[in-house]
Amino acid sequence: MKNAIENIRSLAHKALEQAASPKEIDEIRIRFLGKKGEITAILKQMGSLSAEERPKIGQLANEVRAHIEKEIEGRIATLKKAELDRRLLAEKIDVTLPGSMQPIGHQHPLSQVLGEVQDIFLGMGFSVAEGPEVETDYYNFEALNLPKNHPARDTQDTFYISENILLRTQTSPVQIRVMEKQQPPIRVIAPGRVYRSDAVDATHSPVFHQIEGLVVDKGVTMADLKGTLETFVKQLYGSESVVRFRPHHFPFTEPSAEMDIMCFECHGKGCSLCKKEGWIEILGCGMVHPKVLQNVGLDPEVYSGFAFGIGLERIVMRRYNIKDLRLFYENDIRFLEQF
Ligand code: FA5
Ligand code: MG
Repeated sequence: MKNAIENIRSLAHKALEQAASPKEIDEIRIRFLGKKGEITAILKQMGSLSAEERPKIGQLANEVRAHIEKEIEGRIATLKKAELDRRLLAEKIDVTLPGSMQPIGHQHPLSQVLGEVQDIFLGMGFSVAEGPEVETDYYNFEALNLPKNHPARDTQDTFYISENILLRTQTSPVQIRVMEKQQPPIRVIAPGRVYRSDAVDATHSPVFHQIEGLVVDKGVTMADLKGTLETFVKQLYGSESVVRFRPHHFPFTEPSAEMDIMCFECHGKGCSLCKKEGWIEILGCGMVHPKVLQNVGLDPEVYSGFAFGIGLERIVMRRYNIKDLRLFYENDIRFLEQF
């Protein structure tokens, strides 16, 4: 019986050594120390012992029970500590590690160059005006000396919303809105989005941006127009840039011109980008037509002015050597990241 008790001690020891959870330890406690456990089973057989042996075996059984209980406590403490260590290690925060960087966005190239253009004109004494993108036929055409059925309306393929409401095809209606509200001297630019039912290619989009300019005062001449636009181009692209003025026709200016810059791809030789012309048109301009001044109640005998409309996409293409305007609208991060 003594051997059986010692055997229980070593079995319990081995079992506890392998126990990996409080649940397993509890099972061991029940197996060895419980009411139906192995020690109890031994004690139940004590009746068959001699009076001399009984206290010795009883003492040994109690001692082994106490031993096992102590070992159980020790094992629980070890498991708790291991669990704590594991958690401390897992939850450890190294405050000296570098943080994970979030990518930082930035302005779209069109907005960046628009900002530069605005700075240049603000530096020449212009201020910024705005007008609606959904416009009336009156402001977009009629007041600009383009009556209904005027053939020049065909050059700006228009998205109509109803007979008299349309998506503005140019920023020129802002000229009328400014002159209705403000007396000369006027010096404004009006940047914004415009819409035309144009076929998409490397230099045309159905949605694009213009920057309108308008100067009205006494004694404004074509020389002021050329000087202002040349100053603008040289400030934006550097003093070596080459521009040319070409006679043109706009119903709302007289005389009218278009300004081209030498093609940045072929430097005037002619390539697919400039459609073999060597030059790329970036703006239309001219002296404000007397009829337009009359339409807003200004006397053309007293006042004169000039106006221009710059294509923003075209000048940004030139600025960064971008060969296809469609890239501006695709929002491909690999493209946008470069600016
Ligand atoms: C006009 O829109 C006139 N309102 C400009 C003007 C203003 C003339 C004031 C006189 C006085 P035009 O249709 O040529 O003109 O367009 C002006 C510029 O917009 C062009 O030089 C070109 O740079 C740009 N542009 C025209 N169509 C497109 C298009 N589909 N996609 C991108 N840019 C365009
Ligand atoms: Mg044109």
